[in-house]
Amino acid sequence: MRTRVGIVGGGPAGLVLAHLLHLRGVESVVLEQRSREELESEIRAGVLEQGTVDLLDEIGVGERMKSEGSVHHGVNLQFDGRRERIDLHELTGGRAITLYGQHEVVKDLIQARLDAGGEILFGARGFELHDLTTEDPKVRFETDGSSEELVCDFVVGADGFHGVSRGSIPDNVRVEYERRYPFGWFGILVKGPPSTEELIYAFHERGFSLVSTRSPQIQRLYFQCDPNDDVANWPDERIWEEMHARLDTDDGWTLEEGEIIQKGIVQMRSFVCEPMQHGHLFIAGDAAHIVPPTGAKGMNLAIADVRVLYEGLIEYYESGRKELLERYSEVCLRRVWKASRFSWWMTSMLHRFDEGEDFQYRMQVAELDYVVGSRAASTSLAENYVGLPMENLPRTRDRETAERSAT
Ligand code: DHB
Repeated sequence: MRTRVGIVGGGPAGLVLAHLLHLRGVESVVLEQRSREELESEIRAGVLEQGTVDLLDEIGVGERMKSEGSVHHGVNLQFDGRRERIDLHELTGGRAITLYGQHEVVKDLIQARLDAGGEILFGARGFELHDLTTEDPKVRFETDGSSEELVCDFVVGADGFHGVSRGSIPDNVRVEYERRYPFGWFGILVKGPPSTEELIYAFHERGFSLVSTRSPQIQRLYFQCDPNDDVANWPDERIWEEMHARLDTDDGWTLEEGEIIQKGIVQMRSFVCEPMQHGHLFIAGDAAHIVPPTGAKGMNLAIADVRVLYEGLIEYYESGRKELLERYSEVCLRRVWKASRFSWWMTSMLHRFDEGEDFQYRMQVAELDYVVGSRAASTSLAENYVGLPMENLPRTRDRETAERSAT
């Protein structure tokens, strides 16, 4: 088997890249370990930045997102018995976020790829990457009990945090930065109407909680928990009691309950791998970096990575130049570190680190009070939350033309 771009991983990063390349006539093959059903049902985050929404729309997969997703122009911060709204729309010159589940994005992308005759191989296993510093890098894998080899011009590792791609960058080249947080998120999906029109991020003595949504019928709630806790310790009544304690306000607002249809615990870590490329291998999304979920940057970052990669690959295929591709890691990492900083900051401001540490608690309340009271601080939160602008990536040819006409 031979293709131009071999993409390991059929999550949002891999699928968006395959579709972008297809629209410019560059063929690729997506290799995915899971089945289509598993991919399409995995519940992950659901907040899309404005730039992500615009990109999905531009590549023709935005129809269901537009009809079923919901656009939010603000978010709420709740602390010290108050709830304050951050007006994202007004503070960012008209930008917003869209609530639409990641697995719905994946469903739309898989459908678009298959409708366009794209190749996605589900259920492939045992990936190994070879000859990455040559012109013919290869992915070896197994499918239906037989061993296969895909020879490519470039290999893209979009195979998540536990995938093999990152480890294929040699140890003496790769530097990994990591921070683990001493808590997790207990997430539930609830059948029932929303309690609030816009998300609530709440800081409370008992810990963080978040009220989000998936649709008018399905709600998504989270609360800070022990990372080693077990869902079995949390019968429904105990979950509702904890959520009410952290969220209900004195003015009579109370959290709507409903039928809990799923429970799970999310681990919290920050992780960045540098560089994000080696020879003809490029890694993207969770394979290269993890952010804690607070602020919902994960999928957005993954899609921003492949947008940069796409520009580099198209420049190469259209003009034979590798300058943009060579800058892939450098360009992506600037955004990655800024999103890592934002996610770390939101996490630090909104979680209880050490019960009984009253000074720390007061600092966090003061920070929240400052954020909601200062236009400068609210704007800083808002512009990061809706997504920093996408990098401007003039093609090398256009840069040279611009430089020539400037001299
Ligand atoms: C959701 C997840 C997040 O991490 C977040 O900050 C907001 C919302 C969600 O799953 O809906």
